[in-house]
Amino acid sequence: MTQNYIKQVYFSPTKTTCSIVQRIAFCFGKSDQISLMKEIEPLYCQKDDIVIFGVPVFAGRIPQMAKQRLKKIKGDQTPALAVVVFGNRAYEDALLELKTDLEENGFVVVGAAAFIARHSLFPTIAADRPDVEDLKLIDGFASRCLEKIQKQDFSSFPIPGNFPYKSVSPFPLFPSVKENCIGCGECAKACPSGAISSEDPKKTDTSLCISCAACVYACPVHARCFQGEVYEQAKRMIVPLCRTYLKPEFFV
Ligand SMILES: Cc1cc2nc3c(=O)[nH]c(=O)nc-3n(C[C@H](O)[C@H](O)[C@H](O)COP(=O)(O)O)c2cc1C
Repeated sequence: MTQNYIKQVYFSPTKTTCSIVQRIAFCFGKSDQISLMKEIEPLYCQKDDIVIFGVPVFAGRIPQMAKQRLKKIKGDQTPALAVVVFGNRAYEDALLELKTDLEENGFVVVGAAAFIARHSLFPTIAADRPDVEDLKLIDGFASRCLEKIQKQDFSSFPIPGNFPYKSVSPFPLFPSVKENCIGCGECAKACPSGAISSEDPKKTDTSLCISCAACVYACPVHARCFQGEVYEQAKRMIVPLCRTYLKPEFFV
């Protein structure tokens, strides 16, 4: 029997996507991790590899930066799992977009799922997700996918979403830096778009910022945060839309 090489590939500014992908990968055995938070070298996967892809949902789509970096990973009819993680509002076209992009890159998507985690922009939303019920569903999804791969069952299945996808809307929300910034540069290291100066981490190039919140979560002294009238307005609009407890959905 040939050896499967299992890879986790994720874009995860505030680490919830990464932890869900890790949990799925655990059911498959030993695996390598590839983060799309930095530019990557081209990667070619073999037929008998298994790749678990995870990205967060940004405005109903997959983050465009992750989309560009994913193009560098090619499969050879390689089995893959497509996972999106969203903040209990909606995942809209993101799962369809991820599955379609992976198929265009030579992967055979055996299972696709939308899981829920704390909202990275408005962290009171889904603050305690994934919870115990979510974790059971995550494990269930992983075992169903593993079973399908073992049976070489590569039958196709429909998933929700529309094409053409929702248009990509830039977020006018940029983190501010507070007085207690110690200039350690952890934010600059965490930023996936190089928007923060490593010499002077108080400086952010907002034309590069993708509002992903990586810097907010990376700051050891909580000196970065979203604040201001535009943010408060967005919060007043979004938070009430997210009160209903949504259940994860998966398709295999
Ligand atoms: C710019 C931005 C846009 C987002 N858009 C959505 C959305 O459309 N629907 C939703 O439910 N959650 C949305 N979220 C929340 C994230 O999808 C969610 O918090 C996810 O768990 C973040 O993953 P991460 O921890 O790997 O960064 C958005 C977050 C950000 C930063």
